[in-house]
Amino acid sequence: MIAIVLVGGQGTRLRPLTYSLPKPMLPVVERPMIARVVEWLATYGVTRAVLSLGYQPDAFVDAFPEGRFAGVELHYAVEPEPLDTAGAIRFAALDAGVEGETLVVVNGDVLTDLDLGALVTLHAARGGAATIALTPVEDPSAYGVVPTDASGRVLAFIEKPARDEAPTNHINAGTYIFEPSVVERIPSGRRVSVEREIFPQLVDAQALYALDSDAYWLDTGTPERYLRAQFDILRGLRSPGHLPACAKRSEGVFVAPGGVLDAHVAGCAFVGRSASVAGGAFVHDVVVGASAHVASGARVRDAVLLPGAVVREGATVEGSVVGPSAVIGAGAQVLSGSVVGAAALVADGAVLDSARHPV
Ligand code: GDD
Ligand code: MG
Repeated sequence: MIAIVLVGGQGTRLRPLTYSLPKPMLPVVERPMIARVVEWLATYGVTRAVLSLGYQPDAFVDAFPEGRFAGVELHYAVEPEPLDTAGAIRFAALDAGVEGETLVVVNGDVLTDLDLGALVTLHAARGGAATIALTPVEDPSAYGVVPTDASGRVLAFIEKPARDEAPTNHINAGTYIFEPSVVERIPSGRRVSVEREIFPQLVDAQALYALDSDAYWLDTGTPERYLRAQFDILRGLRSPGHLPACAKRSEGVFVAPGGVLDAHVAGCAFVGRSASVAGGAFVHDVVVGASAHVASGARVRDAVLLPGAVVREGATVEGSVVGPSAVIGAGAQVLSGSVVGAAALVADGAVLDSARHPV
């Protein structure tokens, strides 16, 4: 099987982190998100993946210089300008010369344990032009909302409706099977959205099917969901293969080789290679990236510190992401969905509340 992985977006909701790394290259418990996505595809027999790139393509090429990962051959299709989701799929398929094949298409910012084999089987059984995976969510308004009939035929595709206008809470999980006829109908030379243009056309042609799944599923596009992706792994909500290699582990607490955890821990915690959490600190649901440091008297809760980040004495980090090599000054407070960019400095005693730093 051949997959197209959409990873060309700018990751605007995760700025300023995504100024220095594209969203799919951000680590989720020490491994780039895209590595977890490609491993999942490999599990279901995908042997070639076309990465549909636009924003910071070099970051991907540098991460996989041999053009292979997890036994999957990687092809890099770099758009000259953003073509939106369908435009990107068409561009990638032609660039890799796979437009005549049945294709798996995935949004590269989704982490899931969805059964891709079952999607392929349903697609073949229904004989439609395309089949999409669905997942239930509490608030469908941030997603593509997809009502179906009992046979799985899609009755409408409504991208990001107002919350009270969504006819169902079953949403597009961002995993599709496409026949070549779908790529053929995507116009060239302009931006085309698969969600707003192509899927509604396929609904009108009665050629779009869907399969519901209650497997693990998360779109990592916001700070809150990027944090949750990591704690879900530590809490064992995903298959054990997602856990990193650890020197020490006990009930949701993992310390990588060379990591030091002297502090009191509540909830779950991961301390990466050569990272340290000093005695007298307090941590609760945290990922402390490789070589990061939490000083004594600091409080870090529901937070991710990317590699090399430092939280100084008496500082508080809650519900926030601290970028690689950023420094949170002594006594500073970083709260409620704040995002601190790579190598940024938060001054001693400063307060960031739901803030982006630097803006
Ligand atoms: N190559 C390329 N070019 N990729 C793009 C472009 C583009 O112009 N625009 C977006 N992408 C990529 C993003 O990098 C991401 O991996 C994927 O396409 C989806 O874009 P998002 O910006 O993350 O969309 P969303 O999360 O708001 O909504 C989409 O995903 C939801 C599920 O996670 C839609 O497909 C929804 O219908 C769906 O429910
Ligand atoms: Mg998304």
